Amino acid sequence: MYSGLVKSAYIISAILFICSLVGLSKHNTSKQGNFFGIVGMIIALIITIMMQKILYNTFLIFTAMVIGGLIGIFLSRKIEMTKMPELIAILHSFVGLAAVLVGINSYLNLSPDISSLINNNIHLIEIFVGVFIGAITFTGSLVAFCKLSGKINSRPLALPHYHKLNCLMLVISFFLLLCFINTNDLILQIISLTIMTFIAFLFGGQVVLSISGADMPVIVSMLNSYSGWAAAASGFALSNDLLIITGSLVGSSGAILSFIMCKAMNRSFINVILGGLHNNIIDIKKENIKGTYREISIEEITDFLKNSSSVIIVPGYGMAVAQAQHSVAKITQKLQSLGIKVLFAIHPVAGRLPGHMNVLLAEARVPYDIVLEMDEINNNFINTDIVLVIGANDTVNPAAQEDPNSPISGMPVLEVWKAKNVIIFKRSMSSGYAGVNNPLFLKDNTYMLFGDAKITTDSILKLI
Ligand code: TAP
Repeated sequence: MYSGLVKSAYIISAILFICSLVGLSKHNTSKQGNFFGIVGMIIALIITIMMQKILYNTFLIFTAMVIGGLIGIFLSRKIEMTKMPELIAILHSFVGLAAVLVGINSYLNLSPDISSLINNNIHLIEIFVGVFIGAITFTGSLVAFCKLSGKINSRPLALPHYHKLNCLMLVISFFLLLCFINTNDLILQIISLTIMTFIAFLFGGQVVLSISGADMPVIVSMLNSYSGWAAAASGFALSNDLLIITGSLVGSSGAILSFIMCKAMNRSFINVILGGLHNNIIDIKKENIKGTYREISIEEITDFLKNSSSVIIVPGYGMAVAQAQHSVAKITQKLQSLGIKVLFAIHPVAGRLPGHMNVLLAEARVPYDIVLEMDEINNNFINTDIVLVIGANDTVNPAAQEDPNSPISGMPVLEVWKAKNVIIFKRSMSSGYAGVNNPLFLKDNTYMLFGDAKITTDSILKLI
């Protein structure tokens, strides 16, 4: 009776998820995108619950949803924006674990299709691959969470003979797959599945463990992609079309995002996917740059700003830490009211998660049309009077272009040094996330304003 209804609901949900992704790709339609996603998920949940034939199962699903929902609401209210990557990482680990459990459950409930050996084998492969990807995603995401939250060292910790070990694990897993599908012996099948699950747990954990802190944003995005493929594999195991579609959407969009981030951070996509081939590992050590730099006072900056005709503001991680976005938005309004042209320049990996700066500026109600991406704004710096770099560091580091020996050499950056004057808002001369010295601070047209960005921007706001 339900079959037609279920199919229609799944198609509507799938369309809503696609509309959601389209909406989320632009600032001004992102709320709509979010809305479409919520409606799609509600429809999917209602239909899935309605499909339960046993009332007790419906009760269990509801109870689990209420408990999970309450934990989700509590976490999302408590979590700070800067801690978002680690929250995302731990959530991915749940998807991975769910895929492992769904795969094992699906195997235990498998009724062999004696009429078709091919169908039977395909189903076994789906289960095996689903558990494999899920297990990698689970431990990989757990290790990513521990690294991002500082529970374990963010430096690369590779086991001896790392590459050989990885290849060996993949080869053994492949033989276990052959054994799993080619035997009718139940015990042998269970042993193959169990050994492979442990190998995949080990593989996922050690691959992420061996990745340096600088590659972590890409690996989190990559784990997002893996969690999508794990969900899609669960969809095959459960014969659930919507889960296959949703998983594939997450898997492919995560992979595309990882690719974009790799380009923005000058990392090799293949190296990161394969778990870092250790060609260009950056050893993260915070260093203080030495040399002569010029400091500037709040009063001098205010005079500078009042006498300028164009200003570009470059926000970075420090603005998020200081929560200075509201003061920065008010400074922007004041400057605009004085007839000064103000633009914002956003680097693709500024902050600690994709779109971090866009979210903060949207929260402070900065109009979207003055917020430009790196490629759109890089040619404007040369004609700009003042650039205010607020808590950004790696994303404005000229060493990426000028020093071929720099660990970030080749990474596309915002070319702020081309402006007439650059003012850096930070608390010290220490380096940014990548742990690389920034020669921008020593340039002739650069001035340093030390202090917490919230305090310094508030002081400027009072004086303008
Ligand atoms: P960073 O290079 O990390 O530099 C941030 C700067 O903010 C630091 O130099 C710090 O200097 C300053 N700062 C910190 N707290 C501050 C405060 N309260 N007030 C004022 N300044 C403060 O930032 P970025 O330019 O945004 O670059 C992002 C980096 O993070 C890149 O290396 C990127 O690869 C990496 N990353 C990005 C992501 C994504 S996806 N966006 C995720 C993880 C990592 P002081 O300590 O001297 O104040």
